[in-house]
Formats: sequence, C-alpha cells, structure tokens
Amino acid sequence: MHSRFDSEGKEYSPETLALGLGYDAFLSEGSIKPPLFLTSTFKFKTAAEGKRFFELIYGKDEPKEGEKAGLVYSRLNNPNMEICEERISAWDKTDKAITFSSGMSAISTTMLAFLKPGDHVIATMPVYGGTFFLFKNILPKYGMNFHMVAAGDNAPELIRAKIKEIGADKVKIIYSETPGNPSNVMTDIEEIVKITKELNSDGREEPAIAVIDNTFMGPVFQKPIEQGADLIVYSATKFISGHSDLVAGVVTGKAHFVDQVTLYRTILGTQGSPHNAWLMTRSLETLSIRMHKQQENAIELAKFLNEHPKVKWVSHPSLFAKDSNQYKILQKQCTGVGALITFEVEGGEAGAFKVLDNVDLYGLAVSLGGTESLIEHPMSMTHADVPEEKLEEIGVNAGTIRISVGIENCDDLKKDLVQALKKLN
Ligand SMILES: Cc1ncc(COP(=O)(O)O)c(C=O)c1O
Repeated sequence: MHSRFDSEGKEYSPETLALGLGYDAFLSEGSIKPPLFLTSTFKFKTAAEGKRFFELIYGKDEPKEGEKAGLVYSRLNNPNMEICEERISAWDKTDKAITFSSGMSAISTTMLAFLKPGDHVIATMPVYGGTFFLFKNILPKYGMNFHMVAAGDNAPELIRAKIKEIGADKVKIIYSETPGNPSNVMTDIEEIVKITKELNSDGREEPAIAVIDNTFMGPVFQKPIEQGADLIVYSATKFISGHSDLVAGVVTGKAHFVDQVTLYRTILGTQGSPHNAWLMTRSLETLSIRMHKQQENAIELAKFLNEHPKVKWVSHPSLFAKDSNQYKILQKQCTGVGALITFEVEGGEAGAFKVLDNVDLYGLAVSLGGTESLIEHPMSMTHADVPEEKLEEIGVNAGTIRISVGIENCDDLKKDLVQALKKLN
C-alpha cells in the first residue's frame, strides 16, 4: 500500500497518490484495484473490538499511537469512502476529507455543524443557486443570519464593512466561491483568511472560519488550504467525478474542523454511497490529465470567441488583463485558468438560443466539469432564480452563454461554434 510519504518523509505528488494511496491489495485477494464494498455493516472479530471502535468513533477515548477506528457501519465509514477520501485529501494537501451524497449535502452539513441561532454568515456573491437558497431561505428559519457582498477585488473591504455593521463576535463563517459562476470573478482567499484571523485574534471561544467552494478550479488548479482556508467544499459532481455520471460532494481541510463536520454527517446521514466513492476513486486517477486537457481546449476556445465578430465579450481567466487586480489574484492562488467560459452573443435571448439550438457537439445541459462539453443559458437555466437586479452584477444578461469545455478535439469544438455562430447572420 502506498503511504502518503516516501522513505525520506517527503510527500508524493497527488497524481501518484491517486493510483495507490489508502488501498492494500492484500486485504482484497490481491485485486489490483479496490473492489466495491456493497455492505451496510461490518463484522467485529470480538465484542471488545466492537466496543473499542465505538469508543473511538464517538470520541469517548483518544486513539493510542497508530490506532484507528475500524469499519463499523456504512453511514460512518466504508472502505470505498475512506480510499476516496484519503486521495482527495492528498490532492488538496489537507489533513482529512469526507465525502457526501451531493455538493449541497456537503455545504448544508458544514453550515449546521458550525452555526447556531444568532450566528452570521457572510458570503461573496455569486454563489451557486442552491447555496444561495440555503443561506437566504433555510438558515434564517433556524435563527442563522446571512449577508452577501460582491465577490472580486473589493470583497475584503466589503466584508470588513459588513463585520462592523453586524458585530465581530457574531460572524462565524466567511464563505466564498472563487472563481464565481458564471462570471469567473476571483476573490482573494488569503485576504479572507486574514479577516477570520482578525476575528479570532481576541481568543473567542468558537473560532470564525473561512470556507471556500473550490468546485470550479478543483484541487488541480487551486488549493485553498495553502492560503490558510479552514474548510474547502466541493460539488464533486463536477470536475472531481468528471464524467457527468454521479452526484457527490466533499468537505476537506483542517482535521479539527473536518472532525466536527464528520459528526454531523454521521447524524444527518448525508454521507456518499460506496458506489459513488468507487466511481470517484477511479475518476481521481485521471483528474489532472482531464483538467489540463479541458483547460487547454478552453484557452483556445476563449481566444477564438474573443475574436469573433458576433461575440460581445468573453469571460475566462486566460483573458484577464495582465495589469488587473484579478490577474494578480489568479497568479497568487491558482496554477491554472480552468475550463468554464462565459460570453455574450449579439441578439439577446434569441441570439443565445439560436447558438444553443444549433451546436452539435455541445450537450445542451446544466452542470459542468465532465469530459464532454456542455452549453447552457444562465439567465433562464442555472441562474433563473437570481433576482434580476443582481444578474447584471454577476455578468449575466439575456445574451449570455456558459460553456463547460470537455476533452474533445479542440478543432472540432471550434468548427461547431463557427457553424452555430453563423446562424446569427
Ligand atoms: C459551485 C457549486 N457548488 C455547489 C454545487 C452543488 O453541488 P451538487 O449539485 O453536487 O449538490 C454546485 C452545483 O452546480 C456548484 O456549481
């Protein structure tokens, strides 16, 4: 079995760890790949062993040197979940990771694990529509408060102003999705972490935490733990799974905070399934290759669209002006530019729909991050429930189209856009 470190104590790279970390073939008849453990419960060798596992799982006792709770019940742990979780944690360079049934269950479980009535969350906008609904409509039912500030260059300043308004002791979570969807606007993670450190400098009992939704860059192009984030959440449905064949979520980060979320996952029952964990483990082997190819295609398509006469503007980090603050943030916290392109065509909704209805190779569907290219209309689809006055702020109007670029041959993808854009004449 691979360990995470070589004989000199140096960590192997995630691309390597994705092939072997956390799996001992000789516990599974020598099978070179982890089998799928479709079981709800696990047999204890003795009653004393069962008792000890529960003591460890419920934190009634500290583990001895090298001791770990064994397998108990698949809502708590399962070999497929554990292998997948170790490998995701290696990708993000975090202490621990846990998997969930969806990105939304990862986010909502995290919120419930840290917030109590009277606490406040400040989030940079845009966030994913489901996250927005949770913050705006569900958390307030339980006395938890939500505030939004615009993502981007001024976000740290706006967050500080909001904290002054609310009272520092009441702010519990600062939440940011960066880059934002579909605008690709970046927020400086290090600055957000600085703010949580300021909040915690008076030694408050329960620390304020910085939570980053890293779905769009994935751990290949952005590792928020390196900027000091406490927790990272993912819709693993997207790049991590990468084949548009499952729905899953992840929380990863500092051990102490992940442990708090794990307890809530156990009780709320929001864990992922062994089958999805098995599929994700397989996907993690190609994560870097897929994301690099998707990015390479996206850079070329963004350039092509940017020069097209029927396209009004294009948003992709590869096009950030070198002297802009956005470019500085990109350079500071990302090692890539990702594969989501947003652009506006002439002709408003009719123009956008003409392109959407005439592409051949792009699937007309929401979601993103899969091997196949997808195309959608944010205003009437992914962002349909965003208040109209907010749409402009996040770069969405009637002519806006979003593409999630896949791994197809880029010339084919380009040719297809050429013929679809011709229909605008
Ligand atoms: C950035 C982001 N976070 C969270 C989610 C929610 O994830 P899921 O659909 O896996 O529940 C999504 C879904 O599109 C998303 O785009």
